[in-house]
Order: sequence, then C-alpha cells, then structure tokens
Amino acid sequence: MNTQLTASSSFTDLKNRIETRKARVGIIGLGYVGLPLALLYSEQKFPVTGFDIDQRKVDTLAQGGTYIFRITPEEIAAAKAHGFKATSDYAHLTEMDAIIICVPTPLNEYHEPDLSYITNTAHAVAPYLRSGQIVILESTTYPGTTEEVLVPILEEENKAGLKASYKGAASDHEFWVAFSPEREDPGNTEVARHNIPKVIGGLDRQASEIAAALYGSIFRRTVPVSSPAAAEMTKLLENIYRCVNIALVNELKMLCLRMDLNIWEIIDAAATKPFGFHPFYPGPGLGGHCIPVDPFYLSWKAKEFDFRTKFIELAGEVNVAMPYHVIAATIGALNRQKKPINGAKVLVLGVAYKKDIDDLRESPALTIIELLQKEGATVSYNDPYFPFVGRGRKYDLQMKCAPLDNLAQYDCVLIVTDHSDYDYKKIVSESQLVVDTRNATRAIQSEKIVRC
Ligand SMILES: NC(=O)c1ccc[n+]([C@@H]2O[C@H](COP(=O)([O-])OP(=O)(O)OC[C@H]3O[C@@H](n4cnc5c(N)ncnc54)[C@H](O)[C@@H]3O)[C@@H](O)[C@H]2O)c1
Repeated sequence: MNTQLTASSSFTDLKNRIETRKARVGIIGLGYVGLPLALLYSEQKFPVTGFDIDQRKVDTLAQGGTYIFRITPEEIAAAKAHGFKATSDYAHLTEMDAIIICVPTPLNEYHEPDLSYITNTAHAVAPYLRSGQIVILESTTYPGTTEEVLVPILEEENKAGLKASYKGAASDHEFWVAFSPEREDPGNTEVARHNIPKVIGGLDRQASEIAAALYGSIFRRTVPVSSPAAAEMTKLLENIYRCVNIALVNELKMLCLRMDLNIWEIIDAAATKPFGFHPFYPGPGLGGHCIPVDPFYLSWKAKEFDFRTKFIELAGEVNVAMPYHVIAATIGALNRQKKPINGAKVLVLGVAYKKDIDDLRESPALTIIELLQKEGATVSYNDPYFPFVGRGRKYDLQMKCAPLDNLAQYDCVLIVTDHSDYDYKKIVSESQLVVDTRNATRAIQSEKIVRC
C-alpha cells in the first residue's frame, strides 16, 4: 500500500484530490444505489472501488457482467477501463479517501428498523479507518442514525483511536462524517440522476464542504443542511409525503368506484391546476424498498419522543389494504361472469413493484398472487423483467413466467404492473376478462375491462 496514503490528508489536500479527480472513492454496497453511483464516479474519472459481501456480485462485475437490468455490460466495461474494481476485501478501505455506504435498511418482522446492515458495515469499516478519510452514509434511515449508531462504532472500533471531526478543524486523529440520502427514482427516464440535487448534512462544516465537493463533481447541485439528522429527516419527509398522498388517492379511488366516477380522469383534470396540486396515482398497493418501508423508520423513532405519527400509520393502513381490495374486485368481476374464484385461471400481468423496472422488492403483486392462491385460483404471471420468481424475504413462489400467447385460456387477466412494453389493445381483445389496477387500458373501451 502507498505509504503516503496512511499519512493524514488535510482538509485542503482532500479537497484538491477531489477537484483533480485523484480522490479514491470506495462504495460499500453495490446494489441498485451503490453500483450506479460507482459508475457515475467512474465516468468522471475517479478511481473507484466497490465493496460488497455478495461474492456473486463481485464476481459478475469482475467478469464484466451486470445484475441490474438498466446497467449494461458496456457501462461496466467502460468503468473497468477507468480502473473500477469490485472486491469483498475490506482491507482495501484504508486506501480510500472517501467511503460511501449504500447498504439496505429494511424493516424486521415486527415492522421495526433493521439497522443490522449499517452496524455490520460500521464494524467491518472501523478496523481499516485512517485519519483524513470521509465516511458518508446514503442508506435511508431515521434521524440520528449517523451520529448515534454509525459514529460510535467507527470511533470505538478503529485501531488508531481516531475520532469523528465535530469542530470544523480536523486534527491528525480525526475523520469526517456526513449523511447524504439517495433520491433516485428507478425507471424515471425524465430526470437524469446527475440532475437530482444532492442533500448533504455533515457532522461539521468541513465534512459538509468535502461531501459537497465530492458530490458536486457528479451532481449538478448540492443542497447543504445543518446536520446529518436534518439530511436523514429530509429523505423521510420526501417519502412520507409520497406515501400519505398515495394513500389519499387510494382511498378516494375506492369512494369513486362506489360513486361510479373515474379517479384517473379526476386526477388528470385536477393536475391542470398550475399551482398547489401535485398528482399522485392509485394502484394495487405500495411496493419497492422505500415507500412501504421508510415512513416506519420515523414512526419507530418518534416513540422515543412520546410521539405518534398518525398520518404515517393511517396511510400505512390504507395502502396495506389495497391488495385485498384488488382481490375483492377480481372475485366480484369473476362472479359477474358466474365464475367462482376457486378454480379460476388467473394471469397476473406484471410483478415488478412499478412499471419498466426489474425490482420485485415489497411488490404488491407478490401479495396478490399469494392471496389469489389462498382463494383457490390457479395463478400464472407474466413479466418481461422476471423469467422466474423464486424465494424472497417474505415469499416463496417458485413460478416461471408464462408466455403471453393463448390469453383466452385464462378466466381473468389481472393487470398489476403497467409495463410500457405490453400491447394492451391486443391483451384486451384476446382475453375473456381484464381487471386493471393501473388504468393501463385507459384508451380502450371494452365491456371485458373492470377498473379497480
Ligand atoms: N433502490 C432505490 O431506488 C433506492 C432509492 C433511494 C434510497 N434507497 C436506499 O438506499 C439503500 C440501499 O438500497 P439498494 O436499493 O441499493 O439496496 P440493494 O439491496 O439493491 O443493495 C445493497 C447492497 O449492499 C450489499 N451489502 C449488504 N451488507 C453489506 C456489507 N456489510 N458490506 C458490503 N456490502 C453489503 C448487498 O449485498 C447489496 O448488494 C437503502 O437504504 C435504500 O432504502 C434506495
């Protein structure tokens, strides 16, 4: 290892290294967030090393392969040509100038924050820390995690007795710490990732400045806030805002169905208001790693302050009920054709949690498939992004993607995810009955369609 690197770099040194693209960037967790981030730094000619405990991911990248649909082998090859490497060996962390942590933050079985990925990462990083490095957490989490969870482990378990810099003038025995939330919107092709402003909360002024320089080299705009906790809370506010508004339109959709009104028509009309209204759309239930999960990080933390986050809980209640509403609507639609759900052949169209992405996490389709099976239906699925659905954290389906031919064999085709590649006109014309949870068939008039 380069002995120069073990010496502490001053604040100005590190900023210079960032400005001249010499700063070595280590990204921990090469998933949906970490791998694209590594590629962005690599595109900007930074020497990047990715760290992951999943050896299959490390091996795939070493062979020039990819495991995320929207990232091509050509992008991996270009990054490798710029020196990008992936490893599971944490010892290389000492060589890094910046360490960015992008590990999962799920809920446990009691719907409480599971910080084990963050704490495991902190335990693994600490022995390799050196002074003059910056450690940045990107994983979505409750306010206080960076200071109350990450920093104490790093401080207690590093070998040189290093401390996090709090005073804005780091000494030779300090490292910098910041939190900067990932705000990516998978599948969104309208806003390029580098155009999404990056919120940054450093533990002190120097940490904020270094993080701003680092992110400023790949993002157009950085938004400094006063502390890591303020940055943590910013991310949660954004996701809670989405979660609550989706619950609102989901509830109003159910009312509209009873009143024989079309909620989508109404949302589109309301969205013509040039101020004060932002459209959210109803669906079969929340999915993805963020919206169904993150709000509960805050409601858990709020209890420490004798506070109940009633909006979050109410929104959770409405959104969790949506797959059950879809099942009731499917049973009703079959019933009107004098068919019981028990024994019916149902094709679930789309299992990804939202359109045009290859991510199954927390997808409502999985719950819907399980509920249909419990009712005695024979369920198949089709999704161009998933040739097979095996075992996940909460399900074990072991199903193969069914072809889209011979749709007439199904008693019902249930649209759960409105992928753009589907030819909805053809699907409706070939099916006996279509239950549409996404308004994917908005342009089609047919008695076969039941919107729910
Ligand atoms: N996916 C998104 O669109 C998105 C958007 C915004 C925020 N986030 C947040 O970003 C964080 C990461 O999410 P993601 O979607 O990339 O998760 P992911 O599951 O796709 O990737 C996480 C990666 O971390 C690796 N990992 C776990 N523990 C590790 C350890 N100790 N050391 C090294 N690697 C480890 C896993 O093997 C995996 O490759 C989460 O907090 C999530 O809430 C995700």
